[in-house]
Order: sequence, then C-alpha cells, then structure tokens
Amino acid sequence: MRVKKAVIPAAGFGTRFLPATKVVPKELLPIVDKPTIQYIMEEVASSGIEEVILITGREKGSIEDHFDTSSELENHLRMKGRPDLLKIVQDISEMVTLVSVRQKEPLGLGHAILCAKKVVGKEPFAVLLGDDLIDAKIPCIHQMMEIYQDMEGALLAIQKVPRTKTHLYGIIKGKKVKDRVYSVEEMVEKPEKGRSPSNLAIIGRYILPPRIFELLEKVKPDQRGEIQLTDGLKELNKEIPIYGYEFIGDRYDAGDKLGYLQANLSFGLKHPEIGPKLKRHLKDLSLRFR
Ligand code: G1P
Repeated sequence: MRVKKAVIPAAGFGTRFLPATKVVPKELLPIVDKPTIQYIMEEVASSGIEEVILITGREKGSIEDHFDTSSELENHLRMKGRPDLLKIVQDISEMVTLVSVRQKEPLGLGHAILCAKKVVGKEPFAVLLGDDLIDAKIPCIHQMMEIYQDMEGALLAIQKVPRTKTHLYGIIKGKKVKDRVYSVEEMVEKPEKGRSPSNLAIIGRYILPPRIFELLEKVKPDQRGEIQLTDGLKELNKEIPIYGYEFIGDRYDAGDKLGYLQANLSFGLKHPEIGPKLKRHLKDLSLRFR
C-alpha cells in the first residue's frame, strides 16, 4: 500500500537548547538559513507524501505559521521587486497539506504518535523525527518507501553507531536478509552501557502499519512516565515482521548542540552563497588551532 501520510512529532520543550528555545520552538532553529523542520518537510514533499500530521504542544503555533501563507510579507516582497525571495516564501506554504494535532501532555514519543491515530486512519504511514537530519541524494524516507513496496510489516531506518553511543538510541538485534535490510529479532530502548545487543541504532524514520496505534494504547509508561514507541514496536514484532533498513546518506543529530553545529557547517559548506567563504574561515581556524 502506498504511503501517503507522514507524522512529525514536534511537541518537545527543546530543553537542550535553552535559552535559545525559551520562546522559539527548537524545530525553527535554522541550519544556515532554513529551520530544521523545513528540511524534514522537504524530505516528505519530495518523496511524494501528500499530507503531514504535525504533533504540536504549547507555544508551537509559529511552526504552523511558518508553513502558512504570509500575505503581508508576500506583498512587501512584491513591492520591493524581490521575486526570488517571494518564490522561496510561497513555495514553503505550498509544500504539503498540514494538519496539526495537539499533544496535551508530554508523555513520550509513543504517545505523540498515538495522537495522530484519528487523522491517519487505517493506512500505513511514515514517521519522521525532526532531530534527525539526513542529507541524501534520494531522501531517506523515499528510499524506505521504495523498499516498503515489496514487503508486509514495518520498516525502521537504522545506522551503525559507535559502541560508546548505543545508550542514546533504540537498538535492534537483527539478521541480515538482503543488502542493507535486517529482520529485527530484538529491540531495546536506550540500553545501559555495555548491555547493547548490537551497534545498529534506530534513526528517526519509520514506516508503520495502523495496528501500532492499538498496541501503543496498551503500552505502560516507563520509569520516566513516558510511553515509548520502541515498546509499541516490540509488541508489533510479536505479530508481524519488522525490518531495519540501513539508509544511504549522512545523518546529523540536530537535537544535540554539537550535532546541530556540525549540520550547520556541513550544509554551510555546500551553500552557494557562503560555502567558499566558510571553507576559507575553517582553514584559518584550523591553522590557529594547530
Ligand atoms: C527516539 C527513539 C529512539 C531512536 C531515536 C532516534 O529517541 O525513542 O529509539 O533511536 O529517537 O533519534 P529520542 O532521541 O527522542 O530520545
């Protein structure tokens, strides 16, 4: 079945970026000149997904505004004779159809996904986590949609991570079934150091069947009071096969200060306007730090 809908959770407080995120949602912090969430929307739109269900919380209205029309700004750019900028602004509002659902309490990723139950209905859907920025020739979720066409079950993006970092991720234990594809046998959410079943980490891209909603409804909160998506996936794996797909592309953890800066540098180096100057600056810096 074709994937037509994507769920993007964006309800977190962004505490790792305080004070920057006191008023500005972390999803709107820019990578060079675009908010992080716009990269995610572009990935969705260029993969042919038609509708996005944004899970929001308090003080997140500006995310919806970013993807809405802005007649005042558009008129201003028209009057100033800036068709280039006008196009950029208009393209954003035409990118996808956006439906937003409020997550009334911050009860974890599994709960955030559950908020999309009514809008998703009875079809498989994609989930994209805004902290994971993936720079790829073929958008990561598109790669996954291609693989998903020939399979039943659920599909998770995975990537090998250093053993020292496995405690930061959901980790799978799997059996390789074909190039880049693993059949998932076990899943552990953020295993304690030294207790990870492998170094294959779940990255924030999923294609899930609607059955996950019923299972998430039954998942008990963890010690932190959160309903984990991984716990719902473990239940799902008892009923249907789950596969991990090692995607092709560079992934940045934009939810982490260092990852965010690294993403800015990488995207900055590729940016036509500032790329060459940034490269010179980095060279100067590296000379200074020798
Ligand atoms: C979530 C998931 C985790 C996954 C990670 C990917 O964790 O719970 O399984 O590995 O996203 O970024 P979070 O980073 O939101 O704590």
